[in-house]
Amino acid sequence: MNTIYKAGIFMLLSLLVAGIYITVNDTIPQNTPIQSTQVNQKPENKDDFWTPPTEAQLAEESNAEQIKYGRELIQHTSIYLGPKGKVAKITNGMNCQNCHLDAGTKVWGNNYAAVASTYPKFRERSGATETMAKRVNDCMERSLNGKALDTNGTEMKAILSYINWLGTKVKKGDKPKGSGIYELAFLDRPANPEKGKALYAEKCQSCHQPNGTGLLNETGNEFVYPPLWGKQSYNQGAGLFRLSRFAGFIKTNMPLGASHKITILSDEEAWDIAAFVNSQPRPSKDLSKDWPNIAGKPIDHPLGPFTDGFSEKQHKYGPFQPIKKKKEQLAQQKNS
Ligand code: HEC
Ligand code: HEC
Repeated sequence: MNTIYKAGIFMLLSLLVAGIYITVNDTIPQNTPIQSTQVNQKPENKDDFWTPPTEAQLAEESNAEQIKYGRELIQHTSIYLGPKGKVAKITNGMNCQNCHLDAGTKVWGNNYAAVASTYPKFRERSGATETMAKRVNDCMERSLNGKALDTNGTEMKAILSYINWLGTKVKKGDKPKGSGIYELAFLDRPANPEKGKALYAEKCQSCHQPNGTGLLNETGNEFVYPPLWGKQSYNQGAGLFRLSRFAGFIKTNMPLGASHKITILSDEEAWDIAAFVNSQPRPSKDLSKDWPNIAGKPIDHPLGPFTDGFSEKQHKYGPFQPIKKKKEQLAQQKNS
């Protein structure tokens, strides 16, 4: 009897301590730099992930100067092509690197590991086979809310030679581990912009600003912290406007300092913040020519028409699992 009583007290105490621990842990502000109590360390396997070719290899390329100019354009796009651009004034002032981190070389940092190896490729959005130049111009017109580069011009050629060089070690058709954006598991509920709003204030706005419009440098020709919405942000035809792209991107990269090894946001937080940011005002683009085959739209493309009967709201915020299931059923019916 006595031992059972003691065991009971012990259990109660343990629960209490655990409760206090969780509460304290929950209230730690999670702004950068990373809080060691908050991060999830993942086991590292160095050889597994894609790595870019080295500087020494770059020096040996016959077109090293062109490749370097391409990299410079990716890193400092705005200085050359932004509203105060030296070469042309055709973009919103963001840099490619704002979204393709470390000049498109970071593991799950929306890198270019699988571009040279997979293009030209058929894409549902245009309903056509796209060259790398077309894909780069997609980002010029959508993510940079600007105008396309001349496909035969110096700047496009430099960007393409850089992306091609990054892919030198990747076999045709291969997608190395860690390429592009991390695929986040779906939630079984709609992503919640209200929750996302509070999380944004806590974890993002110190850099991206309370009004989401980012922070320019002193010269005003490049962002120190890029905008997440407003006039100088990506338009509603851009990849990040899809919730899965945004949530997957921030999961392994934001707040600044996060990586595939050290994630800071939980999956739920990433989805909820994505829902908040992508419900804020941003530039629009005529998308009437996109997705000529309506059934080919990704399940999280938030603008109709759709063939699956789900609402724009559900295509925007989820839950996505039922849409995915329906899409698979429809595809099966078509094939049988
Ligand atoms: C606002 C963020 C943003 C900016 C700025 C941006 N991109 Fe992108 N880019 C994306 C997203 C999102 C994707 C789609 C990734 C996906 O679907 O997995 C993408 C895809 C691409 C791809 C295809 C990648 C692949 O593996 O298929 C290329 C190439 C590319 N961008 C080049 C550029 C270049 C060059 C610039 C600058 C001129 C640029 N991007 C600027 C967000 C951006
Ligand atoms: C310590 C500052 C800092 C914090 C905090 C931070 N970011 Fe960022 N963020 C950056 C910087 C800097 C870049 C651009 C990186 C580059 O150019 O190398 C960026 C880029 C981005 C981008 C891609 C570019 C764009 O503007 O669309 C997104 C999306 C983003 N951050 C979302 C978030 C979200 C969501 C949070 C909160 C969870 C967050 N960031 C917290 C500094 C920060």
